[in-house]
Amino acid sequence: MAKARWYDLGQASILKNKPLRQIEVDGVKIALSFRKGVFAAVSGECNHVKGPLGKGSLKGDYIVCPWHSWKFHRKTGRGEAPYDKACLPRHEVKLKDGHLFVNLSASNRRVHESHPPHPLARPVSRAKGPIRVAGISTTAMEKMNPRYSTSEHLLKIALDAAAKAGAETRFIALNKLRFNACGGFYSKDEHACTWPCTYSQIDPKDQLSEIYEALIFWADAVIIATPIRWGNASSLYYKMAERLNCIENQMLIANRSLVKNKVISFIITGGQDNVQSVAGQMLAFFSSLGFQFPLFPFIGTSRGWHAEDMANNVEHVRRNRALHKEAKELALRTMNAALALLKQ
Ligand code: FES
Repeated sequence: MAKARWYDLGQASILKNKPLRQIEVDGVKIALSFRKGVFAAVSGECNHVKGPLGKGSLKGDYIVCPWHSWKFHRKTGRGEAPYDKACLPRHEVKLKDGHLFVNLSASNRRVHESHPPHPLARPVSRAKGPIRVAGISTTAMEKMNPRYSTSEHLLKIALDAAAKAGAETRFIALNKLRFNACGGFYSKDEHACTWPCTYSQIDPKDQLSEIYEALIFWADAVIIATPIRWGNASSLYYKMAERLNCIENQMLIANRSLVKNKVISFIITGGQDNVQSVAGQMLAFFSSLGFQFPLFPFIGTSRGWHAEDMANNVEHVRRNRALHKEAKELALRTMNAALALLKQ
């Protein structure tokens, strides 16, 4: 065991005021806890990706990591069952003259216990097969009585055209998936925003894996359809986009691009205006994730600011053969650009 290095943390009566705190002395990070009259200290670095355990919370005698909720016993350092072979370094504490001292030399080594890998954590590689086109509809609608959607209609026309041209296609209605809004893990620390996304790992009911599977693994080409809502893409589009931060963040923290040789395009329909602005935002965002674009990467339609007459907006798309043709051509451009990348 390393030589003891006792350090005076200060008056115990003051340190009792907080059940859990993060302390750093000479580069040693410690999670100091106080519960039921007893101080305890373990490493302040989580076994997962070094989250600051002392900034988490106490649940009984377990410290809950503030980044992804792994739990460790505050006295023994052991992980919560079934991960109780994992162990944090422990630090002795002692009271003397009303002061609390901690031994900066840990009394044991850190032990990692691997968690079963999340299915999305597998290596990114393209499975053999024909060209694959995923269509994601981001329009929001009431689930019990779904309505006609102009953007979704054009998306389905596009996917049909891709299928007729020999592609495998997959249609995903974002509205049917239950998924969390981004938890802002990136804003805690860039390393707290992980791949797979934290919510995919800790919430078995989160269904955004379907989107990650399509974008990262399955599709060669993607078409995203959105209505214009108050001059922007739909709220569901933004809810999804924020959850895709974990893809972009991998380039920053792990120097790896999860999106390889994929092409994306967009369908934007509005009862009112702002097609160009919505397209600009979507193009900028998906270029940051590593997607490429076909020639003329979006189609859009809007009858302008005064077009509040929804019935006419619907008819404008439902019966508009020129628009339907544009949707088909967009699908073929997107698909052909993806094919060209695959051939390279
Ligand atoms: S659970 Fe602690 S860093 Fe992820």
